[in-house]
Amino acid sequence: MLTQNLPDFWESLYNNKKDYWNSGKPTPALLEFFEHPSCPKTGNVLIPGAGVGLDAEAWANKGHNVLAVDFCPTSVDALDKISRSNKNFRSLDLDLFSLSPKDPKKGGETFDIIYDYGTFTAIHPGRRDEFFEVCYKMMKDDALLILLLYPLSNASTMQGPPHATSAGELMARLDGIFEIVERIPVKNSLPGREGKEEFWLLKKTL
Ligand SMILES: C[S@@+](CC[C@H](N)C(=O)[O-])C[C@H]1O[C@@H](n2cnc3c(N)ncnc32)[C@H](O)[C@@H]1O
Repeated sequence: MLTQNLPDFWESLYNNKKDYWNSGKPTPALLEFFEHPSCPKTGNVLIPGAGVGLDAEAWANKGHNVLAVDFCPTSVDALDKISRSNKNFRSLDLDLFSLSPKDPKKGGETFDIIYDYGTFTAIHPGRRDEFFEVCYKMMKDDALLILLLYPLSNASTMQGPPHATSAGELMARLDGIFEIVERIPVKNSLPGREGKEEFWLLKKTL
């Protein structure tokens, strides 16, 4: 039985055109966030579970150095292709839970920004604390973790992916590890996602 812990699970969704997250264009809410005063103007960006890289490429086009990580062949091929034509963009074929700031083959540095849309709610909910631990480890002390959360609701967490997450659950997980700097509502969600998305901007609790 394939689970979402394995690249083959994701590869079969891509191959069977069940890649529900792939709208074929950069996320409109991200493009709008780029104009928000809280969006960092500079800094290197890590994108774990970058998919086919449309949002990651948007960060690179904005001038940031980007490392886009994914572990399934369709994504990795797409990320490699972008990296060949965009000097700000590097791709890494890796299980995001293996990222390490100390190992050059596994990231090898810390970042100013981590951005995620859809991977936190794509991984198995039992691995959510581990996800935050990896992010923490890969962030500089003053770095920003930017989560575009979907679906943010009180629906059952176990159905999915995408698996819902709620403000209460997140606050419990983040307590003592990350501080919530800001929550920013999303006005231009993709169809069907209205009212279930929010940006959460997090900094390390030091
Ligand atoms: C729901 S998609 C979101 C993709 C992207 N963030 C976007 O918005 O288009 C989840 C992606 O995360 C990748 N992924 C899931 N678990 C992963 C893991 N443990 N390590 C690396 N990539 C992972 C999948 O291969 C898939 O491309």
